Amino acid sequence: MSDRPMVRLRGVGKGYGSAATRVEVLRGLDLDVNRGELLAVIGPSGVGKSTLLHLIGLLDRPEGGRLELDGDAVGELDGEARAGIRNRLIGFVFQHHHLLDELDARDNVALPLRIARWPARRARARADELLASVALTERASHFPDQLSGGEQQRVAVARALAASPRLLLADEPTGNLDYANAEQVFALIRALHLMVGLTSIIVTHNEAMARRCDRIFRLAPPGERSDYVRTI
Ligand SMILES: Nc1ncnc2c1ncn2[C@@H]1O[C@H](COP(=O)(O)OP(=O)(O)OP(=O)(O)O)[C@@H](O)[C@H]1O
Ligand SMILES: [Mg+2]
Repeated sequence: MSDRPMVRLRGVGKGYGSAATRVEVLRGLDLDVNRGELLAVIGPSGVGKSTLLHLIGLLDRPEGGRLELDGDAVGELDGEARAGIRNRLIGFVFQHHHLLDELDARDNVALPLRIARWPARRARARADELLASVALTERASHFPDQLSGGEQQRVAVARALAASPRLLLADEPTGNLDYANAEQVFALIRALHLMVGLTSIIVTHNEAMARRCDRIFRLAPPGERSDYVRTI
């Protein structure tokens, strides 16, 4: 059903370690992200923002509660099913670009498509289209160490979108960039979000950027209330 949220968490819990080293991070967390929404997630360092994105991105499992993506419960699925959903539905952008140093920009963007068994030529042609959409046509044959930080992040955005995900998860995608580059990368994510009709979640410490998202969700430590906020 199309009116169901793209992402729905109910009573989700997550911690790390056991006994004396146990850290409880998320407890009883509820969150809805509507289809087509651009949601900012804010909160202090260490509160669990990356943990939350890892759960939603099926890179890690909740310890309790219910997690639904696109209307389906996904918290209990096995590894293969989770990888399938991840590849089909989700694109990631991290704070550090995570590009492969030995591949040029084009092949970095094409990599998810090659993994999805696209023929090399088609994958490269699609990568070139994506590089054009992030204004990097001129840099397609450059390697990551030949690109500026902002350019690397734009390649990472293009790569995240390569397999046409419906959900984009970005963990401080502009955290390592100066003001002008951060602005460019954020504006690009927002423009592509609208153009492609994505649902997007962006973790950010940048309040001005958070305010330009559709809604802001403030994550709080266990025992305090996490909630949507109007002002920050
Ligand atoms: N693999 C792990 N093993 C043990 N503890 C972890 C692990 N990953 C995260 N933590 C702990 O969980 C808590 C939440 O971490 P997380 O990275 O989700 O925070 P964050 O809100 O993203 O912080 P930041 O804004 O600094 O990126 C922290 O106390 C962290 O030390
Ligand atoms: Mg983090």
